[in-house]
Amino acid sequence: MTATATPLGDGDRPSLAGLLAAAGLPTGDLTAAGRRFWRVADEYGLLGYGGLEAHGRDGLLRSVVVPPDRRGRGAGRAVVMAVVAEARRLGLGRLWLLTTGAAGFFERLGFRRTERLSVPPGIASSAQFAGLCPDGAACLRLDLALPPGPATAGPGGAGRP
Ligand SMILES: CC(C)(COP(=O)(O)OP(=O)(O)OC[C@H]1O[C@@H](n2cnc3c(N)ncnc32)[C@H](O)[C@@H]1OP(=O)(O)O)[C@@H](O)C(=O)NCCC(=O)NCCS
Repeated sequence: MTATATPLGDGDRPSLAGLLAAAGLPTGDLTAAGRRFWRVADEYGLLGYGGLEAHGRDGLLRSVVVPPDRRGRGAGRAVVMAVVAEARRLGLGRLWLLTTGAAGFFERLGFRRTERLSVPPGIASSAQFAGLCPDGAACLRLDLALPPGPATAGPGGAGRP
């Protein structure tokens, strides 16, 4: 699968908002300042969307969503890898995220669970951490000094620190 990420255009915003809403993910701050979103596609069309909020060298990975009819065949992995590549291009050193239902998915891609209280202040003050996501959400981080994805790892991304 050859995935290409392009900055979200205005025409894609309703599609992103609709997929996020259907998945129960926040949509209220999509147009707020400081957010970047990408449309990720392959030769067959849309794979999904993903977004970043940069706070210094830390980034909040957010709004990762795949259309229901493309799930379960690597689209989510491709979306995350594409957004991680964009994060590296932006010079970010770590990514953080909150999720209620997809912690296992992100762990397979090399993210590690961490305490919500361990996030740096910029991330902690983001709308997602400060209020949009429920307190029970899992918090995960990815160190971008590591190569992307579980290249040499089995299930769970074993082999990463
Ligand atoms: C989570 C989501 C992006 C996954 O997309 P997908 O295309 O189904 O994922 P992939 O097919 O690339 O899955 C990659 C791996 O993660 C696993 N996986 C997928 N969803 C998972 C989940 N919810 N929990 C645990 N593991 C999951 C897959 O089995 C696969 O494992 P493998 O490495 O053994 O093959 C998609 O289900 C989605 O859009 N959900 C709604 C939005 C959401 O919850 N986003 C995350 C919070 S921002």
